[in-house]
Amino acid sequence: MELIILPSHDVDAVAARLVADDLRAASPGVLGVATGSSPLGVYAALERMIAAGDLDLSRTRAFALDEYVGIPIDHPESYAAVIRREVVERLGMNPAFVRVPDGRADDLELACAEYEAAIRHAGGIDVQILGIGANGHIGFNEPSSSLASRTRVKTLTRATREANARFFDDVADVPTHCLTQGIGTILDAQHLVLVARGEAKAEAIRQAAEGPVSARWPASALQLHPNVTLVVDDDAASHLELGDYYRETYRLKPAVEDR
Ligand code: F6R
Repeated sequence: MELIILPSHDVDAVAARLVADDLRAASPGVLGVATGSSPLGVYAALERMIAAGDLDLSRTRAFALDEYVGIPIDHPESYAAVIRREVVERLGMNPAFVRVPDGRADDLELACAEYEAAIRHAGGIDVQILGIGANGHIGFNEPSSSLASRTRVKTLTRATREANARFFDDVADVPTHCLTQGIGTILDAQHLVLVARGEAKAEAIRQAAEGPVSARWPASALQLHPNVTLVVDDDAASHLELGDYYRETYRLKPAVEDR
């Protein structure tokens, strides 16, 4: 697991560069996208690369991590709406190439199975952008999630609903359930790029990078993946025991790559 610890204002550009490098190599590539606040700056940085002519995502396919169950598709906070607004429109992607799990499906299990099949059919995800919950969730794989899980219905924790209440009028309006890619699904991506900022994420980052692999902290499953990059700011890194070592490793990296 690579940890890149940076001042907050550098996180987005570095994460975006990693994502763009993977997509250029896989051209047109398959991108895994997350919602929430953490990746917004990464999308903005990608948008700048596209405007500068350094990146073209018009033929890139994308799959979102999750969606609320039962939320109207045109609700501004449905993840379908957020992905359309923040990803498809800003990054000049083809809406027909971008999928979000169907939280309105009559048969949710079937919708989940079809989502897994669609990812497989696209050849799998080349690079997956991730945020992390303060409770260690990735996607909406809340604590207790099977580390082998596939896309399925999950019950959101009270803490997650409270954290996401900022996007709604009231916590009571936040849906109780979601469809989410499983941890097993996420671990199938070729490269995982997780972005986190702020002290509220510090314990989750410590558990993800240094804790035992455990369903109690679902992001700890990332330790099982051979190609994970955590791009975090100093506050989110503040609970790490090995922070100095990660900083030194990143500082010395060019020397190794230039050999
Ligand atoms: C969103 C998602 C979640 C968020 C996490 C952090 O698609 O999968 O895991 O990444 O809840 O959210 P923010 O970035 O808003 O703190």
